[in-house]
Amino acid sequence: MILSGDATSMYVAQPIEWTDRGVVMLDQRLLPAEEVRYSYTSYREVAKAIRDMVIRGAPAIGVAAAMGAALGVLHSPANSVESLRTEFAEICDTLAKTRPTAVDLFWAIERMKRRLTELTAQTSDLSKIRQGMVQEARQVHLEKKATDEAIGRFGSEFMPEDGQVMTQCNAGALATGGIGTALGVIRVAFQQGKKLHVLVPETRPYLQGARLTAWELHKGGIPLTLITDNMVGHFLKTGKVGAIVTGADRIAANGDTANKIGTYQIAVLAKENNVPFYIAAPVSTFDLSIPDGDRIPIEERSAAEVTHIHGVRIAPDVHAAHPAFDVTPARYIAAIFTERGVARSPYTDSLRVLADSAPIAAAPSTR
Ligand code: MRU
Repeated sequence: MILSGDATSMYVAQPIEWTDRGVVMLDQRLLPAEEVRYSYTSYREVAKAIRDMVIRGAPAIGVAAAMGAALGVLHSPANSVESLRTEFAEICDTLAKTRPTAVDLFWAIERMKRRLTELTAQTSDLSKIRQGMVQEARQVHLEKKATDEAIGRFGSEFMPEDGQVMTQCNAGALATGGIGTALGVIRVAFQQGKKLHVLVPETRPYLQGARLTAWELHKGGIPLTLITDNMVGHFLKTGKVGAIVTGADRIAANGDTANKIGTYQIAVLAKENNVPFYIAAPVSTFDLSIPDGDRIPIEERSAAEVTHIHGVRIAPDVHAAHPAFDVTPARYIAAIFTERGVARSPYTDSLRVLADSAPIAAAPSTR
């Protein structure tokens, strides 16, 4: 897909799509070597795809969960509203058990639950209910696209006119289904004519930086330099980095933010070297029900992802740890860019204001 209507039409990856054949996903585990797509027709397959990282990145996980819930309803053998409701509880449960940290997953499931309640209050015609659920999932996807563009517009103001910026993991189109959050900010700034050069930490152990962010930026024609994670301090100290922008998986009421493992140490090093550290994330990433980051559940992934790369053992058979996320305390975050505006410290107030303000509009889904 090409973004049109701007000076430099740029490639935007499409990680997920609702089609007549089912939910089509690009297998992100195989990038950049191969571009393979699968069509899923059952919610269980979608849940497995989320768990196994075929699709990843908080907003994209939310889109996948919404589409998985819609698939579940579409193909349900239920012949009454009552049995559909019973089955839907199982569908939501299965999708909710895939990845614990990204709150977008739970946000999307709650939204689909609400929609089912509305639809069943309006009609007992199962085909209308099925159609309504598919429309809602497609609407979630459309809204993510509009959201990313708004985040990009707000955040681009904070990018330097000319110079280096750093990110972490992949918070691009692959992670959202739109233009990306952190990479959306960089993309919009680049399209506005800012001369940016992106430093991309490879993001061990899953290498989302090396495999996905480097691929996206390269395909989009945005200059980058790939670095290993242990070069971050060196580049922040010596490399004239103007800003750092990353995505988020969950933002607590006080602004503490969970993101890919390694983000915390980047934020601390940013403070030490007077480089502003920003978060770019949709309001659906807020979790105002928890006061601070200590309550954010951190996903523990398989140690084999640390001891092996693409199935090849790179360490002896020893114990290895793999917390997939860490929490950056709010005091290290200079601002949070959202689709509704920019939050600044004290975040307890600014996040609440944004959460209570009107959602942005997205063109309605047509089917
Ligand atoms: O484990 P992943 O690849 O799903 O982790 C992704 C990240 O940590 C992203 O930075 C975050 O989800 C924001 S994506 C816009």
